[in-house]
Amino acid sequence: MWRHPLDKVGWDYAAPPYWEHLARTLERGLFDAVFLADELAPYNSFEGSSDATMRYAVQAPTHEPGALTPIITGATEHLGVGITLSTAFEHPYSMARRLSTFDHLSGGRVAWNIVGSYSPSEFAAYGQEMPDRSVRYERIAEYVDLCSQLWDSWQPDAIAADRASGIYAHPEKIREVVFEGKHFRCRGRHFVAPSPQGRPVLWQAGASEQGRDFAARTAEAIFAIQPTVATMRAYSDDIRDRVAGAGRDPETVKLYYGAQVIVADTDAQAREEADYLRALLRPEASLAMLSGQLGVDFSTFDPDLPLTDVPVPGIQGVKDALVASGAGDAVTIAEAADTYAFRFAMPQVIGTSATVADQIETFLDDGGADGFMLLATYTPGCFEEFVDQVVPELQRRGRYRSRYPGETLRQNILAD
Ligand SMILES: Cc1cc2nc3c(=O)[nH]c(=O)nc-3n(C[C@H](O)[C@H](O)[C@H](O)COP(=O)(O)O)c2cc1C
Repeated sequence: MWRHPLDKVGWDYAAPPYWEHLARTLERGLFDAVFLADELAPYNSFEGSSDATMRYAVQAPTHEPGALTPIITGATEHLGVGITLSTAFEHPYSMARRLSTFDHLSGGRVAWNIVGSYSPSEFAAYGQEMPDRSVRYERIAEYVDLCSQLWDSWQPDAIAADRASGIYAHPEKIREVVFEGKHFRCRGRHFVAPSPQGRPVLWQAGASEQGRDFAARTAEAIFAIQPTVATMRAYSDDIRDRVAGAGRDPETVKLYYGAQVIVADTDAQAREEADYLRALLRPEASLAMLSGQLGVDFSTFDPDLPLTDVPVPGIQGVKDALVASGAGDAVTIAEAADTYAFRFAMPQVIGTSATVADQIETFLDDGGADGFMLLATYTPGCFEEFVDQVVPELQRRGRYRSRYPGETLRQNILAD
């Protein structure tokens, strides 16, 4: 998207004003949160190197999301931040501490997108072997359990801060966490006092069997890529069954679906814009991106081969969504790469604000969506357009909030 003539005009993505402007725009549009995706190293699956990744800027270069978080929350009062932080290479003790700190600094507006890293390049960069999916999820479950014990270890009245006696806190009200797991060990008190939300809102985006079960047991918001209303409905029903099966109230777990919105004054103009965006893609860059996310070197495959025949060690949900995007017809590797680079296999919503609002209503009513994660095209323009054109249309229809209902991110998410 950096090739688009409207991308970041007058803005430097590496400097704070860009992020502050983006955050204020989303807050003006009453968004729950900005989602900061992350990888820990450039993809290197394609042709066994990261050359194509760097040449075409395939999700690279990229900032560390934790460093952006205080910039975003410092520029806003209500907007949340969903930070992707990987459990693969950091001990849960420091992760819990870091997230509690962000939650304090933001006044309770932080969510954690829990990922375990899935790309061979990330494990190579950190000098480790990549475990298989079931071990990754077993490890993540233990990781989140330990973080949760740390977050829950201070009783609400642990702090006295009594100047007269000199007693700041009651140690008997701050449990020392002793954890002896298969993957992690810990003995220590949580180093940060309880934050406004107690713990960050837990987000997860797993799509494999193990991923869905973990999300159903743990997540407060789940985001998924489902290319059609029918697959959205199937995913919504499946997840809500699993959430209920885990003994939780399905109403308290929100489902957000990825969508790419292209809005213009007429439907024809919006279609033209979509065609133009697609024309900016370089096939080699698309294959490098797909190779990175699925952990397969697609340069060694016939591009006309159906994707469904290729086993993937990377993100199963991405492969499933791409296969489903053919709506029954076989999707070749070349088609999958193009679709993925363009729209991540998310549904596209293209047209006037009324056309877009109609489609969004269908996703809400028929797909079982609680909300959406918007896939950017050019920035910050695509978000300005959504906020100025689509949000008022949805508000007129009574399908969008007119103010933030709560103080914290969790309150805002649960109130709607
Ligand atoms: C919408 C969406 C966004 C994701 N964002 C990230 C991300 O930013 N960083 C990351 O490492 N993984 C990300 N993932 C990967 C998942 O969190 C998960 O690790 C991956 O889907 C592998 O699990 P699965 O095999 O259960 O799908 C994302 C997945 C989806 C569906």
